[in-house]
Amino acid sequence: MRRLGVNIDHVATLRNARGENHPDPVYAAKFAKKVGADSITIHLREDRRHINDADAKKICSIKGLLVNLEISTNSDIVKNAMKIKPNFICIVPEKRKEITTEGGLNLIKNKTTIQNIIKRFKKLNIRTSLFVNPSLKDIRISKAISADCIEIHTGKLSNLIKTQKNFSKELKKIRECSYLANDLGIEVHAGHGLDYKTTKVLTRIKEIKEFNIGHFIIGESIFLGLKNVIKKFKIIIK
Ligand code: PXP
Repeated sequence: MRRLGVNIDHVATLRNARGENHPDPVYAAKFAKKVGADSITIHLREDRRHINDADAKKICSIKGLLVNLEISTNSDIVKNAMKIKPNFICIVPEKRKEITTEGGLNLIKNKTTIQNIIKRFKKLNIRTSLFVNPSLKDIRISKAISADCIEIHTGKLSNLIKTQKNFSKELKKIRECSYLANDLGIEVHAGHGLDYKTTKVLTRIKEIKEFNIGHFIIGESIFLGLKNVIKKFKIIIK
């Protein structure tokens, strides 16, 4: 069974636009679970532009809710995450000025730092995932530094599909990385820029076990409601 992780960062973006409490990401997390999300993803960014520490703490303390916390390698953020104790950690690259996470981790440059972070979370029994580009080299490094999972950055594929360009080469890269990771015993996830169509395309790759989707789900909920959008995605990935 493939799982749907719902990223609720942009519920917090909307809340923060008014500086008040509505819409509440904590309520969104509980609601998303109730209507079918298999897990909730939140990204505690260094600039706290959407989810803040209080949100993260409250969301991670909701009983029975599986939370995937995305973090950078920043040492203060890592310390915070260790205190918050989510079920899952996904390490992502982070640049202050980017609108969203633009690509996967640079595993060659940051191998030792990331390896040490993985060790610390493993001691706490927290599943660790690395947000990577679809590169066979990065999959091999992920294995060498004992990542439990990889999440393949699907931004490029999504853009190609959305702009009606040929996406077969990019899909092939994602497929080959998924096969290799699976063979190496690393669980494969996918995320970034996914909508109904791009998710459907990726379901052709059976090795992908989890989809983490945020912006489209929250945006589409304006028209259909969160419950209906989650239901539609659950049907797509079934
Ligand atoms: N997965 C990871 C690791 C992310 O950092 C993000 C957000 O950038 C997503 C998934 C969700 O991307 P989107 O909001 O485009 O669905």
